[in-house]
This record gives sequence, structure tokens and C-alpha cells, in this order.
Amino acid sequence: MTLQELIAHVSGLFAKTCGRPPRWIVTAPGRVNLIGEHTDYNDGFVLPMAIEYYTVIAADRPAGDVKRIHLVSTSCETPVVIDPTQPLKPFPNGSWANYPAGVIAGFLARGLNPGSFDAMIDSTVPFGGGLSSSAALEVATATLLEVITSKKLDPVEKALLCQKAEHEFAGMPCGIMDQFISVMGRENSLLLLDCRSRRTELVPLKDPTVAVLIVNTNVKHQLTGSEYPTRRKQCEEAARILEVPSLRGANPRALEEARGRMDPVVYRRARHVIGEIERTVYASEGIRASNWAAVGQLMYASHDSLRDDYEVSCKELDAIVEIAQAIGIKGGVYGCRMTGGGFGGCTVALVKASAIEAISKKIAEDYKNKTGIEATIFSSRPAAGAMVIKA
Ligand code: GLA
Repeated sequence: MTLQELIAHVSGLFAKTCGRPPRWIVTAPGRVNLIGEHTDYNDGFVLPMAIEYYTVIAADRPAGDVKRIHLVSTSCETPVVIDPTQPLKPFPNGSWANYPAGVIAGFLARGLNPGSFDAMIDSTVPFGGGLSSSAALEVATATLLEVITSKKLDPVEKALLCQKAEHEFAGMPCGIMDQFISVMGRENSLLLLDCRSRRTELVPLKDPTVAVLIVNTNVKHQLTGSEYPTRRKQCEEAARILEVPSLRGANPRALEEARGRMDPVVYRRARHVIGEIERTVYASEGIRASNWAAVGQLMYASHDSLRDDYEVSCKELDAIVEIAQAIGIKGGVYGCRMTGGGFGGCTVALVKASAIEAISKKIAEDYKNKTGIEATIFSSRPAAGAMVIKA
């Protein structure tokens, strides 16, 4: 479904439910990270792009004298009602409503009260696929609230408000990557984000002969909840032993010198992060130089490190990377790696655009043979970040 089709669909649903067309329509994209995994909360670099898969929200004031926020999501059965005059608390049992509720709480905390509204939400970002469906929902909500309150936030403040919603309402101690790219994505560009200074640089990816191929393993292992905060703690411990504010300030030599004073697991976690930060900078230079083979090698190295040192891959992700590697440059694959938090979700590959069909067919077949699972395969050009469609 294209963005235009999704917008028409959500508007239609809103009109059907509320008996009038929506007054406001906003959208925010999911993302795929080309390289720089588990580096954002270590003050490192990341290199994501927004994808052509979106969350769209259509909204309006309620008819009559109704004092509440009413949120309907097409993919969740229970609509959510929020009273914007009361202090907001997280909903129990990991409700989807925590993402918009956390963002509403962030606006209220700034004295920006949206008042009552009805909203219809739909998304083409696959849930739980590691493509930041939650950031897309947060950022779309924030974009809607900017329109309703007539207060445009600074993009950095907006991304940080959404990250806080995820921390405090969804209970996920994520870094800043997902919300930043959903706010700041640009067509035809990757975003090189320095998570320490929060400065961003666009890295053009315009070459029509190269494409980004995303393969969803369609598995999500339930480890994600506890493993992510554990990784964060291990990185903090490594930084403490190395006497640096974060692993961004460390280097391979200092790490080797401290090895004897470190738990072996903590050592390997730090080795991943320090190497990955370096690979991300090299990869951005490789992309600027159209050195696709070099970028591909960095992607494979990233995957190996995430699998062996950071231990956030799984056999399904490894299977896709192995299949891609076997296809090789001759068959049109420059490089491939897991993307996002890990333990399932998607891989990202850099491929020759002319070979997409053949590569997709081969990956689908071999993955099915190896795992018994049907993969979902799609490509995306770098897309624009959040947008107001109707205000
Ligand atoms: C999740 C988090 C991000 C980032 C990635 C790993 O997507 O939300 O902040 O840490 O994992 O790179």
C-alpha cells in the first residue's frame, strides 16, 4: 500500500466511524538501520533511513460536548479513552496505547494541552519486526499534537519527547535512533546521527543501481524485554571500568589493556560497540564514495559482531545473512546484516537494483527450506520523516 492509499484508507475509516471527514491528517515512517547497531545508547554513531512504510493518524475534535481523547487503532481491538484533564499514567499489560499516551503526557508536561479529539490510527510498518513501528506511532502522535496545539517543537526536542514516552510509558529503555530518524528522515538520504552531540548529517543514497532490501524473518523471540536493558548495563559497566563517560570515549587499545579487569562477557559487549562505532563512520564514507563492496563488507562484519560478541542475533537472522552471503556480489548482494534490536525481526541488505527479484526469490526459497518459515521481503528507498498531510 502506498502512502497515498494508506492516507485515503484511514480518512475513509475515520469518516465512516465519525460521520465526517477528518480535520487533521499526519504521518510518520518506520526505519531501517543500515549500520550502527546498539551504538545509540553508547553515544556512538548510527546510520538509519526512514522507510516507505508509515503510521497515519486522521483526527478531529469530537462532535458535541465530549471531554476526552478517543484513540482507535485498526490493528488493536480495544479503543482507548484518555481524560486530558487528569494526570496520565501508563496503561497496564503493555497496551499499545502507552505510545500515544506517553507522547500526550510529554505535551501536557510542557503546558501544551491538546484538549479533546477523536483519532483513527493505521500503519503499514510491521509490528514487532524491528522497523520501529512504536517510534512511528509516537512521532505521528507528536506531529498530530503539534498541529492541534499549534506549537511546532524543535525536531530534537520532539524526538526526545517521544523517546521519553517509550521509556516511561512503554517501559523500554531505548536509545534515540528510532525517534530521530522518524522525525528527521529525508528522501534519498541516510541520516548519520552522532548520538553524543545529537548532530545529524545527510548521507545521500541516490544511485538508482543500488537498493536496500529488507527481509523480515517473521520471528520475534521473547528475550527482547530483558536482554536490551541487560546489554545497556553491561556497556555502562565497561565504560566505568575504562573510566570514560560512555563507550564512545573508548578505543580498542584501552579495551585490550583493561581486558584482565573485565568480565569476559562485558569485554565482548564493549568490543562490539567500539568496533561498530568505527564501522558506521567508515560505512558512511563508503556510501559517499559509492564503494558498495566496502560498505557490504562492513555490514557482514557488523553482523558477525552482533552475533558473536553482542549475542543479539538468532538462527533465523543468521540463516538470511548466510543465504545472502552465498549469493554474493556476483549474484548482486553487496552485504547483509541483522537490523534493529535483534532476537528476530529483519535483516537489511545492500543489493544491485537489477537483481532484486532474483535475490528475493532465492532468499525466500532457501529461508523456507532452512527454517520452515515464510519470510516477507521488500525494498524501500530512503523516505521522508514525519509530515502533516492536512491541517
Ligand atoms: C532498538 C532501540 C534503538 C537501538 C536499537 C539497536 O531499536 O529502540 O534505540 O538501540 O534497538 O541499535
